[in-house]
Amino acid sequence: MRTLFVALSALLLLACGAPTTDNADQPGEVNVYTHRHYDADKELYAHFTEATGIRVNIIQAGDDELLARLEQEGPRSPCDVFITADAGRLGLAKARGLLQAIESPALKANIPAHLRDAEDHWFGLTMRARLLAYNKDKVDPNSLRTYQDLTLPEWKGRVLVRSAENVYNQSLMASMIAHDGPAIAEAWAKGLVANMARTPKGGDTDQLLAIGEGIGDVALVNSYYVGKLLSSDEPEKQKAKALLGVCFPVNGAHGTHVNVSGAGVARHAPNKVAAVALLEFLSGDDAQRVFAEANKEYPVKPGIPPSGTLAAWGAFVPDTLDLALLAKFNAEATKRMDAAGWR
Ligand SMILES: [Fe+2]
Repeated sequence: MRTLFVALSALLLLACGAPTTDNADQPGEVNVYTHRHYDADKELYAHFTEATGIRVNIIQAGDDELLARLEQEGPRSPCDVFITADAGRLGLAKARGLLQAIESPALKANIPAHLRDAEDHWFGLTMRARLLAYNKDKVDPNSLRTYQDLTLPEWKGRVLVRSAENVYNQSLMASMIAHDGPAIAEAWAKGLVANMARTPKGGDTDQLLAIGEGIGDVALVNSYYVGKLLSSDEPEKQKAKALLGVCFPVNGAHGTHVNVSGAGVARHAPNKVAAVALLEFLSGDDAQRVFAEANKEYPVKPGIPPSGTLAAWGAFVPDTLDLALLAKFNAEATKRMDAAGWR
């Protein structure tokens, strides 16, 4: 922690000493808009304050609510750091002019290029794979090598997935459009809808619990939901926990769809120096370990291992598609999902 303190202090001194056009800059606090409600995040903010003296003020609300709020507040917004899930939503914030470019060698060193914006408006802080959880008693994972396999007749009435309104599915669909074009992606969505175990409802965890209830045999979900369920002692999760296996489907010739939870510095951030320091802290070794262990997210920083629960599933090949394309094709994705009857 002492090394971290020295490093951050040096960083702040450097940043404060540099000429700035922002006179309102007060490195004493940083205002964070986040939808994340994890104890681990709060613990990390406390560590950051301990190391730097910078107070972290949290404004917590739903993803779309925060985005709308940032937009409405405009130049008067107190927001310094915008944290949200999914590159699709981060890209939307960028496209609406709500974020600013940040030049930070530390962020570039900590985060692989395909997990951050090429123009430095947002940075992935944790990674997740959209994988398949299946009923070990009923499914041979060798029959689920690709997302496309889910559209085969043998899966009729067996596939669980949340609604098309959710950005995670929109981003998976956007990645398919980016790779293969909208017609092939729409045909995939149609095949998926034809095999659904029920009309989509609930979040990713609900799909996992539905496997426990025998409603379906395979669920398309984000990795951390499975990691959390498999580490859970809650009685209502035990039935699913005992049944679930995990596999990483690939997207045709590409890897497994991955996405990020990430952050950007707000366009009108009153505390820009502190905002950058916080992002650098969250992408550093200590914070990456906390994200991995407590939240079962994959660290973005190379060399930091995932939690044991996730490591037990083995390595996988991630799709290295530029995540900025998920926002670019979001509108087309929702249109095509609707056309395919994905509700
Ligand atoms: Fe989530």
